[in-house]
Parts: sequence; structure tokens; C-alpha cells
Amino acid sequence: MLQNTLKRISPILFNPKLVEVALQAFQPTASFDEIRATVVAVRKETHDTTSITLKPNSLFKGMKSGQYARVNVEINGRRVGRTYSLSVVEGSALLRFTVKQIEGGAVSTYINSNLKAGDTVVLDSIGGEFTLAKAKTSTLQFVAAGSGITPVMSMLYTLEKTAPQTPVQFFYISRNRDNRIFADELDALAARWPALTLINHDSDTQGVPTAEVIAAALPGFGSLSTWVCGPRVMLEGIQPFFSAQPELLVTETFMPPVFAKAGDDMGPVSVVLDNLNRSFTTEGDQPLLQQIEAQGIQPQNGCRMGICATCTCLKVQGATQNLLTGEISNAPNELIKLCSTRALSDITLNIEL
Ligand code: FES
Repeated sequence: MLQNTLKRISPILFNPKLVEVALQAFQPTASFDEIRATVVAVRKETHDTTSITLKPNSLFKGMKSGQYARVNVEINGRRVGRTYSLSVVEGSALLRFTVKQIEGGAVSTYINSNLKAGDTVVLDSIGGEFTLAKAKTSTLQFVAAGSGITPVMSMLYTLEKTAPQTPVQFFYISRNRDNRIFADELDALAARWPALTLINHDSDTQGVPTAEVIAAALPGFGSLSTWVCGPRVMLEGIQPFFSAQPELLVTETFMPPVFAKAGDDMGPVSVVLDNLNRSFTTEGDQPLLQQIEAQGIQPQNGCRMGICATCTCLKVQGATQNLLTGEISNAPNELIKLCSTRALSDITLNIEL
């Protein structure tokens, strides 16, 4: 009798994944290898932006202000994730990510509409270079637009805690007060932290600011360490101010880049997904990630703009073009990022789902 019982349960006892699933029935964040986190609070910041506060399991080993993590949720039985920046002070036991709903964005829509306290999410792909470690001057400047506030908010809280004497100037662009993410938190921070100069710019009444307008509001702009997070067009306008000292400018964008064109338009090419035993013919110039998704296949991905490397896969053979740099490569067995690469010839890939 005992022997039969042991026989029945032994495959479970010796299969870590099955043990994990069994444990998760009692403790949803239990895991041997995943950073699982409980949603402890969900808060609307604006009509289209939501903050989620998370309590991660013990596998979480910390992240720096300004860094991002991929937040994975389960939608219709399938795990999908996107990268979002931390928006609380570095070292906080509870994490907070702030998510603006993107039209057609499955994960951002789910977080804004469905995620609730008590749910479980999975975090991975923690990283990013948009951090305070890049500070090179004694006065620091920040520029953010819209949801670009998210990593900046975390940095401001961290500076207030760790270097409260540091003069900090922050130029924040939003449409109006109702759309200003963290409006109350920012007002409270500026009221209690004398070293912070907060400049709110509402584009509804003041217009979309040019780089010159931003520079006029921030004394010494171009000669001080400056972090800029916003749409690519804003970053491109600001870059010339730092042409003499480019090392002072740290940027992050949340809008997909405008991809460089290859030059000659290529005809359709064949893509073989070797490990999946699937193949298809490309249509148009879109990045491989979009081409593969159009086939109903969901490769792993995060930022979708060539930053996080989550979509990296092995190109076994064929010619591809990096759409961010324009670089063309025929090298076999090289790693490529699906979200920012297009096929120039028939290619073979091994992709992670
Ligand atoms: S999804 Fe982030 S680099 Fe491709």
C-alpha cells in the first residue's frame, strides 16, 4: 500500500517544476528560480496610468533607481511581459512600477484594467544604464515628458535620501495637471526638499517646449550631468546642447525608435524558425519580431526598441540588418535582437518563446 503510494508521488517529489506548482497552490510566490511578486496595491495615477506596488519573493536581489524590469502577467493562460521602470526609492522592500496604457498594448491594458491586489506577477530582465552612477557634476538636472517621469521619480527619491544637499533641477513636461503623473507626490517632494527645483511645464497651455525652452529654464544646461527620459524627438533636440561633453547626457526613450531604412527595398524573404519547425515569408520591412508575431507566434520580448535584449535569439544563417544602426551582417550563428532587426535574405533562426 505504502509502496504504491510512494510510486505514485515519486515523480512529483523528484520534479522541481511539479513541486513548485504544488507549493504555489499555498504560496503563489513560491519558486526555485523565478522572481514572483504579490501585487499589494494598485493605484490610478491619471486616467490612463496605473501604479502597481509589489512584494517580491526572496529571489529578488535589488535594482537601482532608473533601472527597469520586465513585468510578466498571465493573459488568457499565456504569460506576456513588458519592461517598466521602478518608481520608488532604491532599496525599498516594496517595489512600484508605473504603467501608462498604450493603445493596443496587451500588457499595459491588462495592468491598467484587470490587475488587482492579491494577484501574482513575475519579474525578470532587470537592468538598464539610466542610473545615478553616471553622475559627473555636483549639480544634477533632469528632464522628463509624460511617463518618462517613472525612472526619474525613483532617482529623485533616492537622491533625497542619499544626497539631500545635492542641487537638483527637474523640468517635467505633461499636458496639464490632470495628466501629470505623480503631481501630488512631486509637489510634496519639492515642498520638503529645498535642494529640489521643480519646473512643471504644461504643454496644453504653454505649448510643446523646444530644447531651447528647456535649456533656458535650466541654468548651465549642457554643462551639467543631465538625465532625459521622453520621446525620441525630444532627445534628438537636446543632444546638440551636449556636443562638447556628451558624457554628461544620459538618455532613455519610451517610444519605439524610427528605424533606419535599408536603402534598396528587399522583396519577400523566407524565415525558417528551425527549433519550432515553422517557416513563413516576410511581408514588408518590419522588424522580425513583428513579422513573427503576425504568424501567431509570440517570441519573448520586453522593450521592443532594442534596449533590454529580451528578444535576443540565434540567427543560424542569412543576412540581417540592425534597424537602429543600419549595420548589415551575413555572419552565421550570431545573436540578434528580433525587435530591431530585419531580414535581408532567406534566414534561419532559433527563437525563445
Ligand atoms: S524587446 Fe527589448 S531589445 Fe528587443
